[in-house]
Amino acid sequence: MKFFVDTGDVDEIRDLDATGLVDGVTTNPTLIAQTGRNFLEVVEEICSIVDGPVSAEVAATDLDGMLAEGRRLREIAGNVCIKVPLTWDGLKACKALSDEGTQVNVTLCFSAAQALLAAKAGATFISPFVGRLDDIGADGMELISDVVEIYSQYPAITTEVLVASVRSPNHVIDAARMGAHVATLPPKVLRQLALHPLTDKGLAAFVKDWASTGQKIV
Ligand code: G3P
Repeated sequence: MKFFVDTGDVDEIRDLDATGLVDGVTTNPTLIAQTGRNFLEVVEEICSIVDGPVSAEVAATDLDGMLAEGRRLREIAGNVCIKVPLTWDGLKACKALSDEGTQVNVTLCFSAAQALLAAKAGATFISPFVGRLDDIGADGMELISDVVEIYSQYPAITTEVLVASVRSPNHVIDAARMGAHVATLPPKVLRQLALHPLTDKGLAAFVKDWASTGQKIV
């Protein structure tokens, strides 16, 4: 499973990229607004840190605007992936940009029917939002299961399922069990994946007992 970091915070991205476990980055207008910085400058800086796909979302909602913005954003760096919303204009933009060889991440996906259309439109990634479905009492992971199952019926579909709106390590594990290709994680959730109290307890005991030997390895 690939791990993307879901943030516009370049310090967080730099820190997590140093682990060697980061395969890409996703941003969205909300995450960019939270940085208080210029969008194009943030994307350029992220692309200089991470080699993998960096999703930069268009702001326009009409086809012509999405195409103009997508063609501008892809000039920033070779690993820019254009993010478009799952609307008819977004699907048309996805088809046009993917036909031009540009990676496209179709976002704000909340149904299997939408995901099927995104695959037909040539999306590189589809971003089903699991947390926001859970937030309204629906079952976000059931959507992931449906999309993975449907895509698996058609070898011609190369669109990768990018699990988004992730709220906890449980979402990550459940998505991995289902065979989702990518999970995009808030920095906090990515860090939580490594934590377990018994690991901390066990390490403390190892450190204490090793100290009692009075030995050094180097
Ligand atoms: O960036 C896409 C998605 O992961 C954002 O989800 O629900 O945390 O705003 P959310």
